[in-house]
Amino acid sequence: MCGIVGYIGSRPALGIVINGLKRLEYRGYDSAGIAVNDGGKTQIFKCAGRVRDLEEMVNGKDVSGTIAMGHTRWATHGEPNEINAHPQVSYRGHFIVVHNGIIENYGRIKRHLEGRDVKFTSQTDTEVLANLMEHLYLEGDLTAEQAIIMALNKVEGTYGIAVFCRDEPGKMFAARQGSPLVIGVGDGENFVASDATPIVEHTQRVIYLNDDDLAVISKDEMVLKAIKNKPFEPDVKKADLKIGEIDKEGYPHFMLKEIFEQPRAIHDTFRGRVLPNQSGLMLGGLHNVFDTMASADRILIVACGTSWHAGLVGEYILEEYCRIPVEVEYASEFRYRDPVIKKGDIVLAISQSGETADTLAAIKLAKERGAMVLGICNVVGSSISRETNAGVFTHAGPEIGVASTKAFTTQVVTLAMIAFETGYRKGLLDEIRYRSLIEELVSLPVKIENTLKVNDQALALAKIYKDSTNALYLGRGLLYPVALEGALKLKEISYIHAEGYPAAEMKHGPIALIDEHMPVMVVATKENSYDKIVSNIQEVKARKGIVIAVVTEGDQVISKMADYVMEVPETVSVFAPVLAVIPLQLFSYHIAVLRGCNVDQPRNLAKSVTVE
Ligand code: G6P
Repeated sequence: MCGIVGYIGSRPALGIVINGLKRLEYRGYDSAGIAVNDGGKTQIFKCAGRVRDLEEMVNGKDVSGTIAMGHTRWATHGEPNEINAHPQVSYRGHFIVVHNGIIENYGRIKRHLEGRDVKFTSQTDTEVLANLMEHLYLEGDLTAEQAIIMALNKVEGTYGIAVFCRDEPGKMFAARQGSPLVIGVGDGENFVASDATPIVEHTQRVIYLNDDDLAVISKDEMVLKAIKNKPFEPDVKKADLKIGEIDKEGYPHFMLKEIFEQPRAIHDTFRGRVLPNQSGLMLGGLHNVFDTMASADRILIVACGTSWHAGLVGEYILEEYCRIPVEVEYASEFRYRDPVIKKGDIVLAISQSGETADTLAAIKLAKERGAMVLGICNVVGSSISRETNAGVFTHAGPEIGVASTKAFTTQVVTLAMIAFETGYRKGLLDEIRYRSLIEELVSLPVKIENTLKVNDQALALAKIYKDSTNALYLGRGLLYPVALEGALKLKEISYIHAEGYPAAEMKHGPIALIDEHMPVMVVATKENSYDKIVSNIQEVKARKGIVIAVVTEGDQVISKMADYVMEVPETVSVFAPVLAVIPLQLFSYHIAVLRGCNVDQPRNLAKSVTVE
């Protein structure tokens, strides 16, 4: 949440930072701001609204300077308005700060500073941090770096920050604790950003800051220090991102582009991992831990949002193929409930961004308690990928639309690959079955291409149901998490209330809602519990409910009962969620567009939830 971009070099900084902020707008988009420094003075512009509002604000103004930092906000402390937007400036003007995260003890620090005549204008915790730096700087006669380090040692909570000090022009400071920050190393110029997307069009050389890192950056130099002030060697990596991957490539929205990218994304998930002649799988990231995996007593999956839904699918898959008990838990609950973690347990964290604060905290807790922690992440270099003992990248490519689509399907495919490999090694899957599952895996991209042909039908249905106020999503077995995911997609981007339920649970409450107005989306491809879900559809129809069913191609039974069907190709059960979710993604997308909603940046949401 909140995006930070900083530039220090010889080129005009304004455009570079504004463009960078646009790339990060998925992180937060309720207000934006920028500070541009021309060596002598610093100009600050802030506004409620989008980066484009900020751009309009600075348009035509004389804003020169080769150092700048900007921010796009997802409000935590104080409503989104110009005053609470970042950068925040300290009372006497010495420190300018942009911040992503939450300073938890800000109230106490604020009261302390108010007692020393510091005046505050905003409601933000960030202004408190800027003032704490200034207070220490002036009281202690310190350098900016010393004051920043001292202030950071006094705050509790999370931060990724970029800081200017008025008295030390030509320098930018960047530090992190819990919130991501990446440095881009160029020739005679350096960058700071919340992730690599604004950086890669300028340089591929990146340094991922770790917790407790402070970077002191000028245009020709970048010195990394621990906040405890010991210098150390930066580890420069090549960014795993190409600029074309973060453009819409002709699609009207990132979400639609990402839905249509799924054949390629899934192909990238298994590419290089399927051995020649589909004779086996090679998951390099888990190579050293497969034996531990195979002998695990229990797997605890922790995740949030859509990744949690993928985790629920994982529970079905891992239990079926590996016969290991699996529990799936919201990371936010896990971390605060004193979980029982025993020797022999494996904690598996799933996260697209690799930065979700609750998932990261759950991992840290599991590690403290001695568990082996594995990860499934999309973003290479992300905090979660670095905190876990081993793991697998999904390689879905950047996901920019706030509503997650290709992340879900690639996570399910990754979980399936882990399950096949573990099951095979445990002797639970024989060679023939193992190979036939791999064959099916390899055929998925083509099947997804075929599934995407449902787009026109999803649009037609969206036109009919765009004014609904409620929707119910039903599924059974590993299609139950698909129902949850379908409902989540609809509510997050179209603001229609939607609930997902295991179909049999409908009788215990939701059936009371059914009438001739509410669409009931039933995920009913031909899996184990097909006959049961056919009965559930009859129960809905008996109450005059409208049924829109996702079915297997050629289904003759449900197509006669349901009001509408959207067909997906036949596949093995384990991959049914991957295909069945696609019509639901498209249906939600079209409804949101028809309702005039901001599909890629829905209200109140953020792509990467780096606060708890
Ligand atoms: C946010 C996003 C969701 C995502 C969830 C977990 O809520 O809007 O799309 O599923 O965070 O994110 P993660 O990056 O950990 O998968």
